[in-house]
Amino acid sequence: MKANASVPATDPMLSKNREIYDHSDDEIWQRAVYEPVHDGWHFTNIGGRRALRRIAELVDLKADMQVLDLCCGSGAALRYLKLNYGISATGLDINPSQIARACERTADLEGLQFVVADATNWISENRYDLAFALDSLTLIPDMEGFFSTARKSLNAGGLFALTDVVEGQNLSESMRAFASQEDGIVTLASSQAIAEAMAQSGFDRIEIFSDNAEAVRVFSLIFNRVHSEEGWGELPRDRVDSWKELSARYLAAFQADELGYATVIGRAA
Ligand SMILES: C[S@@+](CC[C@H](N)C(=O)[O-])C[C@H]1O[C@@H](n2cnc3c(N)ncnc32)[C@H](O)[C@@H]1O
Repeated sequence: MKANASVPATDPMLSKNREIYDHSDDEIWQRAVYEPVHDGWHFTNIGGRRALRRIAELVDLKADMQVLDLCCGSGAALRYLKLNYGISATGLDINPSQIARACERTADLEGLQFVVADATNWISENRYDLAFALDSLTLIPDMEGFFSTARKSLNAGGLFALTDVVEGQNLSESMRAFASQEDGIVTLASSQAIAEAMAQSGFDRIEIFSDNAEAVRVFSLIFNRVHSEEGWGELPRDRVDSWKELSARYLAAFQADELGYATVIGRAA
């Protein structure tokens, strides 16, 4: 498998996680991502509602189904699914600030629970009909541990769906290093390699959907928003500059097939 899949889960990774996701609610995220890309929904991902609707269709999501969101962030995906499909669900995330936000933002809804846990070694007491992970695999060095958690959490025949940034045909070492340094990305595997790892972890009927055009569309929105001068004056200059560089690098990388974006699904065998 061509991936940086063997980086151990050490404290520096957790501190990088805190550095990024403790602040994923701030003004820049709000104005650069949540408003222009997701109409105000707090999705820290590329696929947003479109990805969730596809997953819901694939599993024919119904109100009596049990759903698990691995690396749920601030709970937006489960809020969206609860409001649109009913469902009962568990969300887990390794970052306590994210789980605190998830609890706060879904306090008006019943049947959702959230836990602080590591998705690579969490042991579920329940079995689910659907497990999904949005834009999180790239942050996880132990892909096998992650898939094992998903597999053990599902009923036989249950659907596992993940969306993520994947290794494109032309990925350069400099882009891989940039993604690692800026975003803590440690696993950049091709969608085929992800599918093979899923098969080895006990999933079958695996399918890959390429969503590269969607990634270009989303990063164009972010790029255009942060490169327009309007309204950034009161925010720290260095953070705005870093978003400018980041959006330009990612947009170029998706356009040049250095990076791709994909949904990979499989059924618990
Ligand atoms: C890019 S965010 C995506 C959040 C959410 N899935 C969404 O789409 O809005 C990645 C999330 O993965 C979480 N995460 C990273 N490593 C994790 C692990 N080993 N176990 C659980 N959560 C993890 C981070 O804390 C962060 O909230």
